[in-house]
Amino acid sequence: MLAHTRVTLIIGGGIAAYKCLDLIRQLRAAGASVTPVLTRAATQFVTPMSVAALAGSQVYQDLFDLKDEAEMGHIQLSRASDLIVVAPATADLMAKMVGGHADDLASTLLLATDKPVLIAPAMNVRMWQHPATQRNLAQLRADGVQVIGPNSGDMACGEYGPGRMSEPAEILAAIKAHSTPGPLTGKRVLVTSGPTHEPIDPVRYIANRSSGAQGTAIGRALRDLGAEVIFVTGPATVPPPEGVTLHPVETAREMLDACLAALPVDAAIMAAAVADWRVATDFIQKIKKGPQGIPKLDLSENPDILATLSSHAQRPRLVVGFAAETENVIAHATAKRARKGCDWIVANDVSPATGIMGGAENAVHLITAEGSEDWPRLLKTEVATRLATRIAEALT
Ligand code: CTP
Repeated sequence: MLAHTRVTLIIGGGIAAYKCLDLIRQLRAAGASVTPVLTRAATQFVTPMSVAALAGSQVYQDLFDLKDEAEMGHIQLSRASDLIVVAPATADLMAKMVGGHADDLASTLLLATDKPVLIAPAMNVRMWQHPATQRNLAQLRADGVQVIGPNSGDMACGEYGPGRMSEPAEILAAIKAHSTPGPLTGKRVLVTSGPTHEPIDPVRYIANRSSGAQGTAIGRALRDLGAEVIFVTGPATVPPPEGVTLHPVETAREMLDACLAALPVDAAIMAAAVADWRVATDFIQKIKKGPQGIPKLDLSENPDILATLSSHAQRPRLVVGFAAETENVIAHATAKRARKGCDWIVANDVSPATGIMGGAENAVHLITAEGSEDWPRLLKTEVATRLATRIAEALT
């Protein structure tokens, strides 16, 4: 799939550098050739010897290594590839790229190249969330740098949150998507998927039957058309797509925060089945049976993520909501489109008899400003492909 693709892989100095060994292996298995460049800090995490052995190539490290200059000058090295991948892209490397520094081989290559650059950031959560890093990220995107990840999860430093480098398979999928540009190449699309879980107490929660199948298929279809997909998912039963920036969340409020943090995006596709209500009281301890009788749960309303994005100052150009109805599907969905202020509503009938919720198929109506279109009953993957194609048409 990546036959004849020449990748220059710049390995930055972070704990995630170890994942690059597997990335090199996967890239070569896909047919790419890999020219590795290590920063000085990277050699603290992976050895040049293991990188060279896996890449089957010389490892470049030093700007002033005369032997390398004789064989391949740094300018030539910066051009002798189809794509430059920076993984892990540390906070420092990102800052250097923004500042146009050229004080070592990696930064000089990045400044001298005329090739597309894809970075896979990895750093401590606080470093990632620091305004300086977020400013740098926005500038790199504005400069045309493609960004994959970071994912959210447990970090090597013991903290939890965004900062984990994307997995090698995810970076590979992004590289593949990049090397075959599609109609959504260069577009950022936010997708929500799955249910939300609203805690009742530390061991119980309110949930719904959404599997995340439709949202996952949409994320995958958008990625396949070249979009950079920011995938915010509740606890779904189907695994998330690869090659997207993954943000797992539990509750509606966490989902809203992750969506707001993803702005600006070109389009937002809100396929999640967000719980409308949460339990108003924070039960720190498990609710016990006892003489006080059956507990009473007071509910409060969750924020409406779709409506919030539809009226946001950084409103995406295209906002798509979903409507899960059990009767008067088109009338309810048309009213919902107006009420939420979104551009399109993908409406479906989720009555148990349809088998749609949790099933492989879906029968939807696309509600737009022009009216309603009835789509035939299709596999959820086919609905996703059709919707992604329509999104591409709307954004180009
Ligand atoms: N949605 C959201 N935030 C919420 C609730 C819903 O973003 N707190 C989004 C869903 O992702 C979906 C759409 O809004 O795109 C569904 O709207 P909703 O009002 O929840 O409708 P339904 O649950 O389908 O039905 P009902 O009208 O019965 O509430």
